[in-house]
Amino acid sequence: MPASAPPKTYRVKSFGCQMNVYDGERMAELLAEQGLTAAPENADADLVVLNTCHIREKAAEKVYSDIGRLRREDGSTPLIAVAGCVAQAEGEEIMARAPSVKMVVGPQAYHRLPEMVREAAAGRPSTDTDMPAETKFASLPARRRSGPTAFLTVQEGCDKFCTYCVVPYTRGAEVSRPFADLIDEAHRLVDSGAREITLLGQNVNAWTGEDAKGRAIGLDGLIRELAALPDLARIRYTTSHPNDMTAGLIEAHAVEPKLMPFLHLPVQSGSDRVLRAMNRSHTSDSYLRILEQVRAVRPDIALSGDFIVGFPGETDAEFAETLRLVDTVGYAQCFSFKYSPRPGTPAATMDGQIAPEVMDERLQRLQAALNRDQLAFNRASVGKTCEVLVERRGKRPGQWLGKSPWLQSVHFTGEAAIGDLVRVELLEAGPNSISGQPVAMAAA
Ligand code: 5AD
Ligand code: SF4
Repeated sequence: MPASAPPKTYRVKSFGCQMNVYDGERMAELLAEQGLTAAPENADADLVVLNTCHIREKAAEKVYSDIGRLRREDGSTPLIAVAGCVAQAEGEEIMARAPSVKMVVGPQAYHRLPEMVREAAAGRPSTDTDMPAETKFASLPARRRSGPTAFLTVQEGCDKFCTYCVVPYTRGAEVSRPFADLIDEAHRLVDSGAREITLLGQNVNAWTGEDAKGRAIGLDGLIRELAALPDLARIRYTTSHPNDMTAGLIEAHAVEPKLMPFLHLPVQSGSDRVLRAMNRSHTSDSYLRILEQVRAVRPDIALSGDFIVGFPGETDAEFAETLRLVDTVGYAQCFSFKYSPRPGTPAATMDGQIAPEVMDERLQRLQAALNRDQLAFNRASVGKTCEVLVERRGKRPGQWLGKSPWLQSVHFTGEAAIGDLVRVELLEAGPNSISGQPVAMAAA
C-alpha cells in the first residue's frame, strides 16, 4: 500500500448499541488528542472510523455498503478503519473483502488506534483484535467534554452465552472497571457539563468492585456513591440481565432519588421452552416476579425490554405466550427483533429455523402490541408534572427537547437552556413524544 499524508480530519460513525456510542466518543477523543479535528457534518474526512455492530445480520452487512459509499468521485477513499464488533468477529477477512479498509480494530483494542493510523498512513495496514479490556481504559485520555447526558461504561463483556448472541464472542468475558476509575471519570463528566449519567454494560448489573474503604460493592453501591456528586442530577443504567437484579439494586430504586424510575430488563420471550433453548436461565414467571418487586418499591417505574421473535423452533403457541407476557407487563417502551442466525452461536445450527414470512408476521403483531402499550403509558403521564432535562433545541423558535424521568421525549416552549432541569406539566401524548408546558424552574 502506498504511503499517504497523515490524516488531519476524522469522522467516527457508530452503529448499534450505546456501548458503541460510548466507544465512538472515546475514539474521537483519542484522535483529537493526536491533533486531528472532527470533519464537519457532510464534509469529506481524511480518516473515517466505522464503529460497527454485529448483533444482527443487517447491522453487519451495512458495514460493507457503508465502506462502498465512502469512495469519492475520483475513485480515492479516505483512510478507513473498521472498529467494533464486526471488526472483532471478522478480523482480517474485512480487508480481504474490502481492500480500502486499512485498519481493523476490535472493541478491546481501540486505544491503539492512533498508532494504527500512523502505520496505515505510512502504507502499513494492521489488525488488532486482542481482548484484554483493562489496558484499553488505562490508556484512554481523560474526559474533557460532555453534553447534559453522558454514557459511562462500567462493565464490558458477557458470560451468559445466550444461544443466539454473538456478544460473549465479540466483547469477551465480563470485566468490571475499577471503582476509583469510574468515580474519577464521573467527576470529569460532571465537571464538563453532564447532569445525567447512564451507566453502561452488556450486563451492567453484574458490575462488582471495591469501594474506597475496600468493601465489596455491586451496582447499587456504585449508584449510591455517584449519587453523592452534588452536580449530578440523574443516574440511569442499562442493560440488565434478570438474573443479576439483586435485592440491593431493587432497593436502590426505592431509596435513591437520583436513580431514575426506568428499568430496561430484556426478557426475549414469554415461553419457558424457548427461554430454555435460549439458555436464558430465567423463566417468564421469575422475570415477572422481579418486575413485581421493582414495582412494589417504585410503583411509577417505566419498564422496557428486548424481544426476539422467530427463535428456532418457536411455535405459534409459544409466540402467543410472548404476547401474553407483554399484556401482563404493560411496557413503557421496548425493542423487538427478528431472530438472526449469528455465525458461531449455538442457535445458528439449531433445527426448526423459522421462515422469514412467519417472523415478519410475528414481529408485526408484537410491535402492534408494544406500540399500543407505549402510547398508553405516555397517555397515562398526561396531567403529571415532572422534571425534564433539556438536551437540545427543538425545530420551532423557543422550543426545547428533553427527557422525562421515565425516559419519554418531552418538548415544550419557554425560557430554558441546554442542561436545565425544568418542571414541566405534561399536556398531550403521542406514541413517541409528549408536549408540555413549563410550570416553574427547578435549580439549574
Ligand atoms: N437475533 C436477533 N436479535 C438478537 N439480539 C441479540 N442477538 C440477536 C440475534 N441473533 C437482541 C436481543 C438483545 C438485543 C441487544 O439484541 O434482544 O437483548
Ligand atoms: Fe447476549 Fe445474553 Fe449476554 Fe445479553 S445476556 S449480551 S443477550 S449473551
